[in-house]
Amino acid sequence: MTEAILLVGGKGTRLRPLTVNTPKPMVPAAGVPFLTHQLARARAAGVEHIVLATSYLAEVFEPYFGDGSSLGLHLEYVTEEEPLGTGGAIRNVAHRLHSGPDDPVLIFNGDILTGLDIPALVEVHRASGAEVSLHLTRVPDPRAFGLVPTDATGRVTAFLEKPQTPEEIVTDQINAGAYVFRRSVIDTIPAGRPVSVERETFPELLAAGAHLQGMVDSTYWLDLGTPQAFVRGSADLVLGRAPSPAVPGRCGDRLVLPSARVAADAKLTGGTVVCEGATVAPGARVDGSVVLAGAVVEEGARISSSLIGAHARIGARTILTHSVIGDGATVGPDNELRDGARVWCDAVLPAASLRFSSDQ
Ligand code: GTP
Repeated sequence: MTEAILLVGGKGTRLRPLTVNTPKPMVPAAGVPFLTHQLARARAAGVEHIVLATSYLAEVFEPYFGDGSSLGLHLEYVTEEEPLGTGGAIRNVAHRLHSGPDDPVLIFNGDILTGLDIPALVEVHRASGAEVSLHLTRVPDPRAFGLVPTDATGRVTAFLEKPQTPEEIVTDQINAGAYVFRRSVIDTIPAGRPVSVERETFPELLAAGAHLQGMVDSTYWLDLGTPQAFVRGSADLVLGRAPSPAVPGRCGDRLVLPSARVAADAKLTGGTVVCEGATVAPGARVDGSVVLAGAVVEEGARISSSLIGAHARIGARTILTHSVIGDGATVGPDNELRDGARVWCDAVLPAASLRFSSDQ
């Protein structure tokens, strides 16, 4: 069966402070490290051997997932001494693959939540005879992404990184972060130095006349690279809008892990998850949000589309909208935070110190 490489070594700078103590793929979404959902989906598609390419905070992956047998997988870990970028990371783990030169190898970015039909991508790769096949998705505003136009047969015609002018936006198809490589192509990536698969490997292969095939699959797709996207992705997993066999409970409006304590009259809605040992006090309302392990939400707090870090504390009557609270931080009572606010790990915001509206 096809084996896979998962790229999980990025610094996750756009997600800070969530990624200060935890690498992005290990931040819990719907109650389990995000990576669990990807591993479970790969397993459900028949993948058994997965090599994790680690770098930033590499030491936390193996103690959690071990040899992968609890997920029915055989997992291996390869850590870069210096970050090698996406292409360098792929090359760096090649010696752990068992595939022959012409066999397909799956490669996944470690921060994508998607319902991609993995066997269909492998089949497109086989049927087209391409060197590399890519999952493409369509987005309404492609400016933040790498564009991948294709011809009528799906063959890739160009790679256009982050277009700026309207003339540069020639397609709404973007690189969705899942690939099938012919094994021998992986071996041609230069070893021992940083390489970007998006900016170097793909354009160079194209320039050399290689066949790169795109498969547009417009199923659920979300890049969890920013706090807002991460919170959205977790809520979609809880609500059952995003598919994963690894959600630890029944999908619905809320997910409360067994050791969490939620007051009877607290209101949890919109795919909110409350993780192990966290507490939500009476009268609090939490909508579409993530409350990580050991966090405390005090009486009457109102939280929406926000992420509360592990062991953080949100004071009584405080209002949070589209905000991220780092691990161990304290937001005192009667504050109001909004629109992209990021409170750093262990910071303390005194009572009634920040508002965006009158307190009366
Ligand atoms: P930002 O810093 O917020 O852009 O996030 P990131 O560091 O994760 O970068 P990006 O989202 O572009 O990375 C795409 C995927 O490749 C993610 O799954 C990363 O974990 C992974 N990745 C990026 N750089 C490296 C690297 O140098 N080594 C390894 N092993 N993986 C990487």
